[in-house]
Amino acid sequence: MTGTFLYKKKKIGYKIRGEGNRNTIVLLHGFLETMNIWNNLGNKLSKDFQVISIDLPGFGKSELIESTHTMDLMAEVVNKVLVSHDVKKCMIVGHSMGGYVALAFAEKYPSKLRGLVLFHSHAKEDTPEAKVNRERSIKVIKSDRGNYIYHFMPDLFAPDNVEPFQAEIQHLIQEARNAATENVIAAQNGMKLRTDRQKVLMEATYPVMFIAGKQDSRIPIENIIEQAKLPKHSELIMLTEVGHMGFIEARVKTENIIQSFAHRVF
Ligand code: MLT
Repeated sequence: MTGTFLYKKKKIGYKIRGEGNRNTIVLLHGFLETMNIWNNLGNKLSKDFQVISIDLPGFGKSELIESTHTMDLMAEVVNKVLVSHDVKKCMIVGHSMGGYVALAFAEKYPSKLRGLVLFHSHAKEDTPEAKVNRERSIKVIKSDRGNYIYHFMPDLFAPDNVEPFQAEIQHLIQEARNAATENVIAAQNGMKLRTDRQKVLMEATYPVMFIAGKQDSRIPIENIIEQAKLPKHSELIMLTEVGHMGFIEARVKTENIIQSFAHRVF
């Protein structure tokens, strides 16, 4: 079923697959994406689990809430969806920005987590250089959002994957263009402000899986390798010939990896 609810009087969209009496997996998309990126994974996981995918504020069916969407605000929205469906514990899979939100959720509600998958994501805050880059991006988004998206999307893929996944890239561009300029900027502002959450990893009492692409241009693989040492129980999958979009670039492989992790977690 697809659902909506109001958070601070703004609409939030989400989708639930699978039966409610099963263990729950929450899927959180990344920057400029929507919950639709999880259609394949969600369908596969819903055979054994209840799967909740959420449009983070400003993307897909979810409206802009504030001019800055902090990771904490987005984690609050995730919690509201869970509470409204009486979900007390879950595993979260977060792609990139979705992983930052998952870490904010883990910090606020550690006892609600059974497992965490950081899919091309990590727990460090932006470096000073990354913050400057975000400011630069915000300027470009303000002057020509469409052009920014057009160049941003192919860059997320490993160079050799751009041509074979052209149809998927065009689809992602189309979806991203539905987000208004201020919505895109609200996410950039929020990511810029996010704090270091490596402590969350050190204190995790649940298994953490890191999925990394060796050709990821957004998240340095060294960051991920280093952080995979922090949790008590962690697993690290390094994908060759994959950039930042493993759920497309290595779809079947990553779906199987996450499915088997979920079966071990619950
Ligand atoms: C994402 O894919 O969610 C973003 O590129 C992450 C980021 O900008 O740090």
